[in-house]
Amino acid sequence: MIFSVVGARPHFVKASPLMNALKNSAMDVFSIHTGQHYDANMSDIFYQELGISSPDVNLGIGSGTHAEQTSAVLTGVERLLLEMKPSAVVVYGDTNSTLGAALAAAKYYVPVVHIEAGVRCGNRRMPEEINRRVIDHVSDVLACPSELAVNNLAREGVVEGVLNVGDFMYDTFLMAKEIASSYSFSLDRLGLCSGEDFVLATIHREESTASAATLSRILDELEEMGFPVVLPLHPRSRSVLETANIPLERSDSLRIVPPVGYLEMMFLLSHAKVVVTDSGGLQKEAYWAGVPCVTLMNETTWPETIDAGWNVLVDLQSDSICDAIRDFTGDAAPVGTDRPEVYGAPGAAQRLVNALGWA
Ligand code: UD1
Repeated sequence: MIFSVVGARPHFVKASPLMNALKNSAMDVFSIHTGQHYDANMSDIFYQELGISSPDVNLGIGSGTHAEQTSAVLTGVERLLLEMKPSAVVVYGDTNSTLGAALAAAKYYVPVVHIEAGVRCGNRRMPEEINRRVIDHVSDVLACPSELAVNNLAREGVVEGVLNVGDFMYDTFLMAKEIASSYSFSLDRLGLCSGEDFVLATIHREESTASAATLSRILDELEEMGFPVVLPLHPRSRSVLETANIPLERSDSLRIVPPVGYLEMMFLLSHAKVVVTDSGGLQKEAYWAGVPCVTLMNETTWPETIDAGWNVLVDLQSDSICDAIRDFTGDAAPVGTDRPEVYGAPGAAQRLVNALGWA
């Protein structure tokens, strides 16, 4: 039996294809939800939409500081490891839940399988970058999404157990795109007409939300864009704005809505003209969907999307978000140019299952 440990929104998207690939295998999966994300629209909706079975246990760690979250996962997963003695622990991505689960397993010599290994942005001031490095260095199987990730690991001296299987999120994206195209999500409820150009924006990272003033300035800039902007707002960003008494009711051009489920997000993505985001996952999804992306960060974990001309970085402190968006909607728009399969062909989860003899 193996453990699969999830807990935050991006994990569900990565775990779904592995759960599918293991459905017909002899391997038993015990699924642990850490409880890092707990709102219905940050967690439950992903289970329903992606058809993932409910978790076998929820550790209920909730929100807190980095140490509070990581230590709660360490303690919770350790207890289950000692009780159930799994043969491996699968962890996804780079969150505090991922770190806690990987560390807990490594201390008991239980093999750690890290999905999305080797990804780096080079900025040690990002909590996720610290998590990525530690997780990779205690993992036994490093399932990389790309050649670049394999090379990143080699540079750090990690070569054993490294597999370039491709990106797990690609299958989930393709499935969601297919389902979402036949769903009747309403652009109407966002005040958009069918065929109308709009920008899809998200912003939630610690660096982006550290200052209410910066966040507010970004919203001001988006509001003056000249295109309608749809912004499904992460609860972290909402709470920063509310605490600073910055109004969320904006003019007609900036439509701030609660977080949406995966299918609706992919539906919106497929209709958007440009994406503006500080999310790692959405940068890749925009690339796969052929929608240009403006990334509000100084560095990215997905530089291949920049090299291909579909993504551009904009410093959070600069006032050139609108310029970057306009570049993508004008003559320089990359529409029609190549999007090489830098994150592999569909079937990453199945390739890993085969490689590990779990089929
Ligand atoms: C976490 C990950 C980040 C990932 C993101 C996806 C870490 C260090 N960061 O960031 O890499 O991109 O998940 O969303 O693990 N909150 C709610 N309801 C929820 C969840 C969170 O209201 O269901 C609010 C709480 O105020 C909480 C804040 O959001 O304090 C931040 O949540 P947290 O899980 O700590 O980090 P994320 O910003 O979601």
